[in-house]
Amino acid sequence: MSGLLHGKSVLVTGAASGIGLATARLAAREGARVTLCDRDEEKGTSGTAAIVAGGGHALFVQMDVTDEAEVSAAVDACVRAFGRIDGAFNNAGIATDSSGKPGKTADIAFDAWQRVLAVNLTGVWQCMRHEIRHMLAAGGGSIVNNASIAGLVGLPGQAAYTASKHGVVGLTKSAAADYAGQGLRINAICPGFVETPLTADAFQRVGPKILAAVPARRFGSPQEIAEAVVWLLSDRSSFVTGAAMAADGGYTAQ
Ligand code: NAI
Repeated sequence: MSGLLHGKSVLVTGAASGIGLATARLAAREGARVTLCDRDEEKGTSGTAAIVAGGGHALFVQMDVTDEAEVSAAVDACVRAFGRIDGAFNNAGIATDSSGKPGKTADIAFDAWQRVLAVNLTGVWQCMRHEIRHMLAAGGGSIVNNASIAGLVGLPGQAAYTASKHGVVGLTKSAAADYAGQGLRINAICPGFVETPLTADAFQRVGPKILAAVPARRFGSPQEIAEAVVWLLSDRSSFVTGAAMAADGGYTAQ
């Protein structure tokens, strides 16, 4: 068997749905042994079973990225099952407001602000701490953090989400500089508007308005983001570190 990730062990968070699931599937097709992590046990288990049924090597670990003990246990489970961790996609994330209602900056509830920062930013850092520990001990690896176009530009009505995603880009750049001399690459992917359960409500309400601002005049698919992530995880991107790569149909090019 060959493939871009042949022989590698890759961990994906938020792997039960959307961009995370598409990346786990593609990584398995490209030869990786994949540890799918998510707080949603039912969807995580069925997504993992489908990969295994298709001939891939995969393991599901239920975990919440805001719980340090669970994060540590998930990374340990990956290393125990597959002997190492070569790549990680820190992808789990939530929208500012699950009701889909935009709220201006001064109207964001304090607990909503804290929750978004805890999952989208601190959760990524928690995962990185444990992944980096193992990767450095083994001589290196590749980490990809899922930011967003909201990590590059401000989105109205999304201040908490935008702050968390700018934080992911900043964290990625500092960490890349910290470890570039030790065989460890760290990059951020910045997807534009992608059709997943996270965006379904918003796209239904204001889809045409969003598309008018996207030069490609269409939404992205989870598979299109997975393709970029798998390349960043692979040795083909060996001189790329500290990058915030947009995959957004031209949205941030304007
Ligand atoms: P999704 O809602 O389809 O998938 C997110 C997954 O993360 C779910 O399976 C959920 O159970 C899991 N999750 C959420 N909180 C968690 C936690 N605390 N611990 C463990 N797992 C948790 O969403 P989608 O669209 O695939 O989003 C994935 C990432 O992509 C997020 O970080 C999101 O901000 C980012 N993104 C999405 C875009 C889009 O248009 N869909 C655009 C730019 C970035």
